[in-house]
Formats: sequence, C-alpha cells, structure tokens
Amino acid sequence: RRLARCLSIDDLEERARRRVPAAVWDYVAGGSEAEVSLARNRAAYDRVELRPTTFGQVPEPSTATTILGRPAAAPVVLAPTGYTRLSHHTGERAVAASAAGAGLPYTLSTYATASAADVADASPGGRNWFQLYVMKDRAVTAEHVAQAREHGYEALMITVDTTVTGLKRKDVRNGFAIPPALTARTLAGLARHPGWVSNILTTEPLRFATFPEGSPYGRWGMSNELREQTLRPADVAGIKEQWGGPVVVKGILSVGDAVACVEAGADAVVLSNHGGRQLDRSPAPLELVAPVAEAVAKVSGTAEVYVDSGVRHGGDVVAALGLGARAVLVGRPYLYGLMVGGQRGVDKTLALLVAEMRRTMCLLGTPDVDSITGEHVRLRDS
Ligand code: FNR
Repeated sequence: RRLARCLSIDDLEERARRRVPAAVWDYVAGGSEAEVSLARNRAAYDRVELRPTTFGQVPEPSTATTILGRPAAAPVVLAPTGYTRLSHHTGERAVAASAAGAGLPYTLSTYATASAADVADASPGGRNWFQLYVMKDRAVTAEHVAQAREHGYEALMITVDTTVTGLKRKDVRNGFAIPPALTARTLAGLARHPGWVSNILTTEPLRFATFPEGSPYGRWGMSNELREQTLRPADVAGIKEQWGGPVVVKGILSVGDAVACVEAGADAVVLSNHGGRQLDRSPAPLELVAPVAEAVAKVSGTAEVYVDSGVRHGGDVVAALGLGARAVLVGRPYLYGLMVGGQRGVDKTLALLVAEMRRTMCLLGTPDVDSITGEHVRLRDS
C-alpha cells in the first residue's frame, strides 16, 4: 500500500526519510563538504530539454538494450553502495534479487554487508558485477577477483575516485560509525526506529562481508590507508589481464582520463562524481557525456560510456542516452526503495524508471534506445 502510493522516486525518497534513523538517512542522502556537487548533479538534469519529433510517434517503445554486449531490459545498472544493510536489513541480497528479476545488472560493492557468494545465491540468473576498491596489498585485491570469478560475476568495476573518502560533515556531526557513536542525536534517532534496530540486531552483524571474518579490512574506519591511493592506467591494464573479463572504470570526470582508461583496456567508463560524495565542486557528470562519448568513439569501436550521479527519473535516462551514454547507473534511488519496502521497494524503483522511460520515449517519438539521438536532447544554458 505504502509503495502503491509512490508515483515517483521523489515520493519514495520522501517516505524513505521517515523509515530509517536520522544518521543513516544523512549517510545515504548526503554529499561531501558543502554539497555543491550534490546539488549540481540535479541541476544538470534540470537543464535537459527533450525535443520531440511528433511524426515519429510510437505507441509501444522498447527500452531493451545490450550492456557490455549482453541483453538488459533497460539501459540501467544498479550502482555499488557500501553498507546497504543499513538501509534495510535484507540489504544487498534483496537488491540483487530485484535487479535479476528486472533484467538489469547489479554491482556489489567491496564495502558490501553481504558476501559475494550469498548475493550470487540470492539472484539466480542475474547479471552481477563486482566493484573493486584496489588495495595496497594486492593479495587482498586478487582474492576479490577470485571471489568474483568463483561466484559468476560478469564484470569488474574499478572505482578510481576515492583516494580518500570524501568528508560528509553530517556524518562527522552524527558520529556516524559502526557501531554507532552514541550521541544524543543518534540515540534519539535509534529510539524512534525500534523496528529498524531490532531487524539489524536479529540478523547477522554488520561488517564488510567481502573480506574474510576477523580481517582488519572488515572493520569500520580502516579504509583510507589500506586502499591504493596512487592508481594509474597501468593498474587498470594489470587487473584486466588478471581477470580476463570485462572491466569498467568508475569515477571518471575528464575526456583525457576516459581515453586513457579505454587505451589501457577498459571496456567501459562511468562518468561519475560518486553521487556528490567525493570531490566537491566537481563537474556534473551529465555535462561530460557528449564530449567523452565522442572522444571514446574515436579510440574504440566498442568501449561504452555510462553516467551516474543524480538520475531520478526515466526521462533522465533518455537524456543521458541522447547525449551519447550507453547506460546510466542509479545509487540512492534503489536505496530509497529498499528503505520503504525491502526487495519490493527496489522492484518499485526499477519499475518506475522503466515506465517513465517508456512514457518519455512514447512522447518523444523514439521507438527504441538506438533511435534516441542528440537531436532529441539539448542542455539549456540555465
Ligand atoms: C555510494 N557509491 C559507491 N561507489 C562505489 O564505487 N563504491 C561504494 O562502496 C559506494 N558506496 C556508496 C554508498 C552510498 C550510500 C551511496 C549513496 C553511494 C556511489 C554510487 O556507486 C554511485 O556513484 C552514486 O550513488 C550515484 O549517484 P546517485 O544515483 O546516488 O545520485
């Protein structure tokens, strides 16, 4: 019932806010520093002008596409998010199961709170990708690559924008940590959400489950010093060689870096500012799609360009495609669905995106994803 009343991802967001303790909400919804990039991401989508070709009208457009050469029901990938079980105790397993049901790829984070094996078991027939935070200790990274292979993950996504974790002021003020710092605010937040607290307490303990039990990597707050902080294109090439399958590089914000990744062997790049959670005042990724897609096409006939940070509507997906992206990633939209209704809430998020995309394509006059071109999308000056 709760879900049926949600007509948009904005509705889900509004309801989600009331479902979790305030510190969890701030962690998920917030951005780094002054949150300029967080706001800029949405402002970029507000600049989108969709230009219909009326006599191309189509009653039943198709959102089907291929991503990394394999079929997907729509050009949408579920982005990696750490600590997904904070949003809802069913966590990563529920999200992966929903993605599999919807025919969309799901990316499991290195900082996932469910193991690669459990997520694979929960999503039979799904397309799962594994997001890699490369560690200084390459034996740890090799172990992640081995897990991904063993459990049938289809691609590795190397995130390169996290030299250090962006500072989220609200998280500092909230004492956001695992276990939570018991400030007046966090205690009040927990007291207001007894259902959330008892669900978390009665399921398995929160830890980074892609690392072995007892490993120093499994604990909160260890990450900056343990992660590789000087990544280079050669690292992408090295991991690609070790893995042997598709490699996606996430967190690119310049034409030069996108080209360097593709030249190093990346099969795709994700234009992303991490949802406004890393470098504040970084560009809105949507505004880089056209120049990056053009430059990548000059050096590779097959490499794909994806974009994330701020997608909240199927019309946003259509806009990204028109500018030259192959697909978008969504992060918070599915976490909001998860907060509201567990796996069914994620189903709702994905169904909304696809239905909105269809409606937009119908009105725009584009029968399939390939027919969405630069002629249909313009970024207005303001
Ligand atoms: C993230 N993101 C992220 N990215 C990544 O590569 N590894 C990670 O562990 C995480 N963790 C994470 C946690 C939370 C709570 C959020 C909201 C985001 C970034 C994520 O993959 C994606 O780039 C953004 O979420 C996209 O922006 P939207 O869709 O949230 O606006």
